[in-house]
Amino acid sequence: MLTEWLTYLTTDCPPLARKLGYLRESIAIRSRYRRCKIAWQPHLENSRSALIESLHACSDFRTALVFGSGLLLDVPLPELAKRFESVWLIDLIHLPEVRRVVRRYANVRCLSCDITGFLEQMKTMSPTNLNLPPPTNFLDDPTIDWVVSVNLLSQLPLLPLDWLRKRFPGIDEVMLKEWGTQLMLQHLDYLAAFAAPTYLLADMEQTTYRQNGEVIEHFDFAAKLGLEHQALAQWRWDIAPPGEIMPGIGRFHRVAALTAKRCNNLNKLNQNQM
Ligand SMILES: C[S@@+](CC[C@H](N)C(=O)[O-])C[C@H]1O[C@@H](n2cnc3c(N)ncnc32)[C@H](O)[C@@H]1O
Repeated sequence: MLTEWLTYLTTDCPPLARKLGYLRESIAIRSRYRRCKIAWQPHLENSRSALIESLHACSDFRTALVFGSGLLLDVPLPELAKRFESVWLIDLIHLPEVRRVVRRYANVRCLSCDITGFLEQMKTMSPTNLNLPPPTNFLDDPTIDWVVSVNLLSQLPLLPLDWLRKRFPGIDEVMLKEWGTQLMLQHLDYLAAFAAPTYLLADMEQTTYRQNGEVIEHFDFAAKLGLEHQALAQWRWDIAPPGEIMPGIGRFHRVAALTAKRCNNLNKLNQNQM
């Protein structure tokens, strides 16, 4: 608890990211990782292997862009730093220990950036105007030769939705859920707009279960976002073994490595059907 509090006080991050809870969440992920290290290991190894495998699609190795780099648990940083001239780690939160690791590499930089643009737009939002312009950051940089979004997609709407619910009590819940889906689709379109080989690691499903195997809750992100047919590799992530969320309750995700290029057409299809 004391370590968490000290990290909260000493981490340098955008004030709005702190206010909306991004720093708190990042520290909570670190604590959960420490408790669930063994259960998370296969997922982290699969994630790093899938990203290393995806480098085969690159013909040049100038700049690598990593969205949602976070604690760098699922990012094969030593390999990326060795292969690319520059590696840019994009996240709202880079904890002090991440910055310490990054200092070992002359060619790796941490960039604090909101990849949805929500923090910039939130002041002008109202229940009748929740519009977010499509992100364009980095799209015009010709040196970018590889892009990845790591275990970030399903997280994107969570804290913005919390903020909108508090800011506009009574706001229509159906509309909010739809807005959250659009935010994720916008991220997929953004990734698909890069000229370089672009990949994502993303949650396809989330299942919450009782220890006796009974399923309590199930979310199918893949069906919602039109991702079902495009996984290059898939695996199970025991994100919360029984007892982690509540006594006798566990949660796992089905995670996939996907190419962002093929997402785009399917997104459009999906949007037309909504
Ligand atoms: C589940 S974590 C991803 C795991 C991370 N790759 C790691 O190894 O720790 C999601 C990450 O996305 C970041 N994130 C969430 N929303 C973001 C946004 N709008 N812009 C930039 N980063 C965001 C969070 O700060 C967090 O580090």
